[in-house]
Amino acid sequence: MALVLGIETSCDETAAAVVDDEFRVHSSVVESSIDLHRAFGGVVPELAGRAHVATIGPVVRRALDDAGLDPSSPAISGVAVTSGPGLIGSLLVGLSSAKALAYAWDVPFIGVNHLEGHLFAPLLEARDLQWPLMTLLVSGGHSLIVLQPGPGQHDVLGETIDDAAGEAYDKVARWLGLGYPGGPEIDRLAKEGSPEAMKLPVSMIGDDFDLSFSGLKTAVVRATEAHREIALADVAASFQAALSEQLLRKLRHALERYDVAGVALAGGVAANSALRAGVTQLAKEFGLVVHLPTMAMCTDNAAMIAAAGLHRLATSGPSPLDLSARPNWQLADVS
Ligand code: KG4
Ligand code: ZN
Repeated sequence: MALVLGIETSCDETAAAVVDDEFRVHSSVVESSIDLHRAFGGVVPELAGRAHVATIGPVVRRALDDAGLDPSSPAISGVAVTSGPGLIGSLLVGLSSAKALAYAWDVPFIGVNHLEGHLFAPLLEARDLQWPLMTLLVSGGHSLIVLQPGPGQHDVLGETIDDAAGEAYDKVARWLGLGYPGGPEIDRLAKEGSPEAMKLPVSMIGDDFDLSFSGLKTAVVRATEAHREIALADVAASFQAALSEQLLRKLRHALERYDVAGVALAGGVAANSALRAGVTQLAKEFGLVVHLPTMAMCTDNAAMIAAAGLHRLATSGPSPLDLSARPNWQLADVS
């Protein structure tokens, strides 16, 4: 049994995990610096980088401990780390740590694309995953519809042309004076409001699979400025309904076009209750297996990075130790 250590530091989570070659998670530790960023209404790159430097050592040690490994000479066969996309200062902390450990332990080092990591998250919880798989990957930084013929194979059908879905949640929440991150707050409030209270645009209902959320965000700002009497819960419910409607229409369109066996949600916004219900309904309608990762597997973690690393190591081999961070690395450029 080969064990790989995964490391993730692309944004505000400092994470380490140990996963074996059958995708069993032996440990997964996630520390978030979110409390440092709340007052600023978003992640402050400089603060995130500094927090990673302070936290990475103890987090790796805990992941090794939790997996029952001896931290001074652990039986690790490789070290996988997110090398992009993400915040450059944050990526460099994980990358340097992973290289140092791989060098010291004399094991392969593997640079992993963060989005490919998210695509491996459903595999860690459902080893009976059915292929081909259609995945809606929605997070604070990305929104994509991806057709996966098999593990590690991805065809990006569409992606956002402006804001990411989570970013739209966070921006609207900020406008409404709610806390950061905004997604969970809006999701909670929406349950008390009416989704029909406001008429909001469902953007880009065209023939392609691209997404767009910035028009919706602007529409919420305009409507709430013009009608200050609208209850906050009604705004939340109407915004959430319009945003998930767009995602679900595009996903439906993709399922009509491509023959798949399963459908999955991934990324932080996959925690959203309306989206989970909508995707479950859609899968039922199309007779597909649905994979909804647990909350811990939706948000950033290192187990998904270790899983993607195991796959890359088996298919493409290790990365060179002079690999640099790629802050804008697109999923479509991963091969
Ligand atoms: O994947 P993630 O942890 O970090 C990125 O890689 O971006 O996603 C964080 C995003 C935030 O924008 C947050 O507001 C959103 O996921 N989010 C949600 C919910 N929980 C988290 N959005 C909508 N509904 C939720 N329940
Ligand atoms: Zn992420």
